[in-house]
Amino acid sequence: MAESNIIKIPILGKESIIVGNNITAYIAKDVVSSIKASTYCIITDENVAMHHLEKLENLLTKEANALGRRVLSYTIPAGELQKCRDTKAEIEDYLLLNKCTRDTCILALGGGVIGDLSGYVAATFMRGCTVIQIPTTLLSMVDSSIGGKTAIDVPGGKNIIGAFHQPARIFIDPQYLRTLPLRQFRNGMGEVIKTAAFWSPEDFSLLENNVEKILAFARNESEDGADIVQKIIQGAANTKAYVVTHDEKEGGLRGVLNFGHTIGHAIEAILAPAMYHGECISMGMVYEAEVARSMGLLKDAAIGRLSRCIQAYGLPVSINDPLVDENTHGKQKEITVDRLMEIMKLDKKNRGTQKRIVIISEIGKLYEEKPTNVDDEVIINALSPALKVTPVPETQKEKFSLNVPGSKSISNRALILASLAQGKCKLKGLLLSDDTQVMLDALKYLGIKYFWEDNGDSLVIEGSNGKLQVPTDEIYLGNAGTASRFLTSVCTLISENGPKTVLTGNARMKERPIGPLVEALNANGCDIQFLGKNKSLPISIAHNGTKLQGGKIQLAASVSSQYVSSILMSAPYAQNPVTLELVGDNVVSQPYIDMTIAMMKHFGIEVTREPNTNIYHIPAASYTNPETYIIEADATSATYPLAFAAITGSTVTVENIGNESLQGDSEFATKVLQQMGCTVSQTAHTTTVQGPVRGQLKSIKIDMETMTDAFLTATVLAAVANGETEITGISNQRVKECNRIEAMITELAKFGVKASELEDGIKITGTSIASLKVPVDGVKCYDDHRIAMSFSILSLIVPGQVLIKEKRCVEKTWPSWWDTLHNVLKVKLDGYDTLPDEMKKLAKEVKEEPKQFNDASLIIIGMRGAGKTYMGQYAAKILGRKFVDMDWYFEQELKTTIKEFIPSKGWEQFRIEEVKLLKKIIAENPTGLVISCGGGIVETEDGRDVLKQYASQGIVLHLTREIKDIVAYLSKDETRPSFAEDITTVWERRKNWFQECSTHEFYVYKGNKNVEDEEYWSEVDSDYKRFIEFICANPSSDETKFPGNVHIPPASSYFLSLTYADLNEAIPILEKASEGSDALELRVDLLASQEKEFIRQQVSILRRYSSLPIIYTVRTDGQGGRFPPAEIDRMFELLEYGLKWGCEYVDVEVDVIGKGKEHRIELTENLVNRKGNSKIIASYHDCSGTALWDPHTNASINTNTTKISNGPKRLLRMRDKYMELLPYGDIIKLIGFAHKLQDNFTLYTFVKEIVPSLGLQYKPVIAMNMGPLGQISRALNGFFTPVTHPILPFKAAPGQLSIQEINKIRSSIGLISPKKYYLFGSPIAYSQSPTIHNTGFEVLGLPHKYELSESEEWTHVKKVVEDGIKDGSFGGASVTIPHKQNVIEHGIVQRVTDAAKAIGAVNTLIVENDEEGNPIVAGDNTDYLGIKRCIENRINKVRKSDDKFIGVVVGAGGTARAACYSLTQLGVDKLLIWNRTTSKAEELAKIFGGEVIQNLGDCLKTESDANVVYAIVGTVPAAAQVNMNFTEFFDSGKKGVIVEMAYKPRRTPLLNAAVAAKDSHWETTEGVDVLIEQGLEQFIRWTGRIPPSQAISEQVYNRYSE
Ligand SMILES: NC(=O)c1ccc[n+]([C@@H]2O[C@H](COP(=O)([O-])OP(=O)(O)OC[C@H]3O[C@@H](n4cnc5c(N)ncnc54)[C@H](O)[C@@H]3O)[C@@H](O)[C@H]2O)c1
Ligand SMILES: [Zn+2]
Repeated sequence: MAESNIIKIPILGKESIIVGNNITAYIAKDVVSSIKASTYCIITDENVAMHHLEKLENLLTKEANALGRRVLSYTIPAGELQKCRDTKAEIEDYLLLNKCTRDTCILALGGGVIGDLSGYVAATFMRGCTVIQIPTTLLSMVDSSIGGKTAIDVPGGKNIIGAFHQPARIFIDPQYLRTLPLRQFRNGMGEVIKTAAFWSPEDFSLLENNVEKILAFARNESEDGADIVQKIIQGAANTKAYVVTHDEKEGGLRGVLNFGHTIGHAIEAILAPAMYHGECISMGMVYEAEVARSMGLLKDAAIGRLSRCIQAYGLPVSINDPLVDENTHGKQKEITVDRLMEIMKLDKKNRGTQKRIVIISEIGKLYEEKPTNVDDEVIINALSPALKVTPVPETQKEKFSLNVPGSKSISNRALILASLAQGKCKLKGLLLSDDTQVMLDALKYLGIKYFWEDNGDSLVIEGSNGKLQVPTDEIYLGNAGTASRFLTSVCTLISENGPKTVLTGNARMKERPIGPLVEALNANGCDIQFLGKNKSLPISIAHNGTKLQGGKIQLAASVSSQYVSSILMSAPYAQNPVTLELVGDNVVSQPYIDMTIAMMKHFGIEVTREPNTNIYHIPAASYTNPETYIIEADATSATYPLAFAAITGSTVTVENIGNESLQGDSEFATKVLQQMGCTVSQTAHTTTVQGPVRGQLKSIKIDMETMTDAFLTATVLAAVANGETEITGISNQRVKECNRIEAMITELAKFGVKASELEDGIKITGTSIASLKVPVDGVKCYDDHRIAMSFSILSLIVPGQVLIKEKRCVEKTWPSWWDTLHNVLKVKLDGYDTLPDEMKKLAKEVKEEPKQFNDASLIIIGMRGAGKTYMGQYAAKILGRKFVDMDWYFEQELKTTIKEFIPSKGWEQFRIEEVKLLKKIIAENPTGLVISCGGGIVETEDGRDVLKQYASQGIVLHLTREIKDIVAYLSKDETRPSFAEDITTVWERRKNWFQECSTHEFYVYKGNKNVEDEEYWSEVDSDYKRFIEFICANPSSDETKFPGNVHIPPASSYFLSLTYADLNEAIPILEKASEGSDALELRVDLLASQEKEFIRQQVSILRRYSSLPIIYTVRTDGQGGRFPPAEIDRMFELLEYGLKWGCEYVDVEVDVIGKGKEHRIELTENLVNRKGNSKIIASYHDCSGTALWDPHTNASINTNTTKISNGPKRLLRMRDKYMELLPYGDIIKLIGFAHKLQDNFTLYTFVKEIVPSLGLQYKPVIAMNMGPLGQISRALNGFFTPVTHPILPFKAAPGQLSIQEINKIRSSIGLISPKKYYLFGSPIAYSQSPTIHNTGFEVLGLPHKYELSESEEWTHVKKVVEDGIKDGSFGGASVTIPHKQNVIEHGIVQRVTDAAKAIGAVNTLIVENDEEGNPIVAGDNTDYLGIKRCIENRINKVRKSDDKFIGVVVGAGGTARAACYSLTQLGVDKLLIWNRTTSKAEELAKIFGGEVIQNLGDCLKTESDANVVYAIVGTVPAAAQVNMNFTEFFDSGKKGVIVEMAYKPRRTPLLNAAVAAKDSHWETTEGVDVLIEQGLEQFIRWTGRIPPSQAISEQVYNRYSE
């Protein structure tokens, strides 16, 4: 290694910072020769060790051993969590164990964590030993390794325990960065940019101009950037060393290093660790620069450069930056201005109502050499997303003058002209936008020199007089259209020989046309080639020693006037005078061509146009640079300060626009303001307006076609003019940032001003100032800068403060508008944080009307005969939409029938028309339809394209059933021309097409039924209903639950792993085995076959025989399953089926970190992106048993290996795995291994403490340990614990427990405390309730008890409840006669649910917590739910889709009330009540909105409709039924459900009459069924668990029959 490479930087008087590429050998030599030590101990982390430890250690050992000294190394896990006391102690113990003494030299090899930690160890070890810093991250190279600050983090705060301990040497080798992850590199760039921004304009330019090179080096793609990276590191390190030297212990100067940090740290406090330090201070810099701007100390141009540079390195510039959302998953929404200010207040450097902020006054320059005290108000204003405008007092009649930001078009032209001209030119008022920045960078490549003057206000260009150089590299133009057009011609002026010039841009630029310009130039002898597919960029321009010929040039100018301007501006430097002829119909934007010609004239070249033609003559000559060229203001922007004068009655002069303006909008002053009563005076380059006395503006009628963008300004003035104003010629404003005409009308109305739309304009009725209103909710800006600025003008005279939301939208054209309004025009503005209010409102809006289904149209495809029409209509009914059959639509639209069409026009034509119509119907009905397509729609590529396109955002459902059944069905159908081919052949051809065009697939599972069976379709119907409801559900409609009703934790939940090779075998035991579970897991890898058809059938079985959600898992060998891990494509194909079949959960093994994972990442991302409503369980199973739950445990101690420097062995940590899974999963599943019991508690700590401490978005975690010692972790895991059941033939995993076993463990270790439940009432001896609940408790292994507590005294009830609440043993109670009202009246319950209120009785007591977390008792009523569930469970068996639904209640007592309530909850079309005592029936009818009937037969009289389904609820005791007449009604052949509430005897006269009726169509349920159902509801409310209903009913029926 040549030492010439090495640069030394002095710090604190010594040259101890050493910078160079590839200097490891040098480090070893230098350390050993200059630092005398008995032991050199390298401390590093695992990531760094893997790449860099061995080399350093070997070289160092060689040098040290030669002198009889020794080398040790110690590796700790990576990450900020290691910067803690534990790890410090661990390192100290290691040093002591190895007998290290005071003359030990510690080498900190790593990032800031290693540097800070090892530095602090060195500071205190033996009262201080030598430390050497070898930083390996960019951040540590330029920041943390320099300055001697060392520290650790403790629970009380970061970096608050530590010491100053200067390193003896700091070795900086950029080569280390080549292994650093890119995001870490960018992170360090934050500090690099920061340093340049406050200290060095040169370094800043270096950063601006070498983005690609630097990033290519960081990505390890190219070595080219090594030098430049070294340079930028030196620059930053130098600055830090200088600052530290002049202020070692933070007196004043050192504070300037904190540029961007005051606000940046506050943001970091909320967003870390998801966002890195360098990212947070990047945002901080922009905000702090805005603070400087609002203090009038910094120019827009500087802020523009700063944020563009930050963005170029992939760093965020505001909390709304997409990068922030991506990494924090929405956490940035928690940031409010108040919260940021609160955090800043805690910073010890800040005092009182001021904060210390480093102010820069231009790029690379400090305002003062220490942080400046800034008032809170100023910071709040800068940070706030919105602001309030205070009106200007009428007495204020000052004179103001100001400059307005320059015009973009003029800026771009001026840059070209000044660069081509002779001599120097100072451009004043240049607009610095992305476009002009790109242009400036490009001009530099062509050899143009320029520099900034006047504090960044002026740009001085040294003109080239047309002598340009061949660029050394390709020129990247981003999306800057103007630059690309102008520069294409400019490049043809290069007369040197050399390699071709390449102009390129971003993806969008590569689509924008440039063909006509290139063709015109090539026709003139140039050699320009298109390098891409399109006639657009990239292009190459050849240089063969001659420049543009000139002479006659023909150009088609109908696309862009920029082509014309491009040739015009370059033409004077062609070899011969140019005659430019524009051909084609119409020339666009003549005003822009005129602008170019006028500017050329200013630079000394006169263009002549042949009268009445499009032929221009340009002489061959040179431009001459004027000494100064003032870029004219953007004329539309200028209207705002002028309108300020008009509306407030003051005088304003705009200094950079006048009557020689080149822009149409410049006539605003004379054509609009003057007419409205202002006094206007203009010079060539200035405009002054004086407004009339307030309230004296006059209305006008004006055509603003030549200045459309200024109509908004005119409109707000018209709002307070006397009379009606009409503005026309502005219809293009309907399609700007928003529909501006509509937006103005809406917002004006908030001020109490009337306005309306004209065909091509707007009419405004002027209002007196006195009657203006303050908009209640503030002004909405529609993200449109012009709306924001216009309304800020109107706000100036409103009686009160006006809130302008979204203040940042002005950044598009005038970023400092608000500062100008405040600082120059003296308007008081107050920052306002709308965020919290808005968010609250938003949340409320979402809650108020939860929509069950999304309404995007659903498309159904599939073979003819698959059931598309039937299922389509059914889907339409479920979703509440319209159904359209494409065949019907075809016949409607083409006014023919398919039977006629095919023979005359043929199948091919039919397909063409069909696809056309599909496109049409989708375009016209993006929502609200269910569309069923013909089977052949997939036959053409066009058809498939339309479907695939739709599938990319909507649902395309493929309906399919056994091809045999289709054949059988179709042989009967004669309505359509039959297939010429065999149906099976057709299916074989189409099946893959159906597959690739659909997002979902529904398979008509016939189970053990035949197509002819009556129940065939009714069973399919309910499977299908569940499927459709799931895939179309609006995910937002219930935030506390996942689809499938699984509670998002903390509630405990389980899933049953089914390990069958064929689930047909499981059908008989499925219900019992799944008792207590919340979902069923289908282990696809364990199935007998992994063929699609087989798996599909298995999914269908689960859906048919259980209502539980399905977890679809393909577990690989190596993660505890059987699927071959190498078949990754096949695995993802299977997983995709899981999504297609609407499985509620799909388990995905995520493995995306490390080399060579690109394909896997792509597959995982694709899968996750198309998950729809399914939830992804991102899983990782550590079968090797090596992953660690504890981020602190050091394996090098555990496993007795003192180092891990040999080979790339890495410790696997669950924390890292968790972070790896997080972006992909809705649920994270981590399975480890327990080597000792302790490992289960580390796991528990991991879930309860480590995961929350990461501060990332919360996601439910399933975490468990395998192995015999891991069993207890199954009891510790709360959410979705996989379980087995005793009746299953085998377990899914060794050690797997049943729910009963888990709950027993939980109770024995105190995780569940036993509760007592009671039945209050009398008489109750024969109650079935104890059987119901105690069976439930026992089956689930819960330690609770349900007892009878018989008494007629309410005081007894009160005492039992209150005592039980006090000692925590009361779990809940059932309540029956005579206490159903007592508990309300005597205050035993503190809350009554809506249902219990409506029914007027309580039957269930539940323990809840009040707002402070104290237990209270709530009274609920589950009787009605028992009734409701009994009806729901049975009605579908008899109900046809369009039946009228009528509820009948027999009786009018307390139970009847519950019955009425259930029926209304079920949404009956009509409610009838029959009671012997009519008056009581009438009472109920009044409450629930029903009709009274005299006997059951009356039902028939009140209903003429034939299609009726009844739900009859009987609530009178069997004994009282004896004299009732039921037969007339039941013999009439009606159908429905009967729910009997009486349960002695089991079969009452009512039930008997229904069953005995002729032609009976009645589903009946007995009293005991209702009792069980309501008991189950109680159980759910008390335990939060799903009860084992089958076991419970069995027990109850057993007892009942005894
Ligand atoms: N003392 C100071 O003046 C000062 C100043 C700023 C920051 N800090 C501290 O610095 C710490 C942050 O430093 P950091 O950003 O360097 O974090 P870091 O040390 O955690 O390193 C970041 C990551 O990059 C890995 N890594 C480091 N070098 C690598 C390389 N060459 N190749 C591959 N991977 C590599 C690390 O293992 C780690 O995972 C914080 O604790 C902060 O408080 C201290
Ligand atoms: Zn910092």
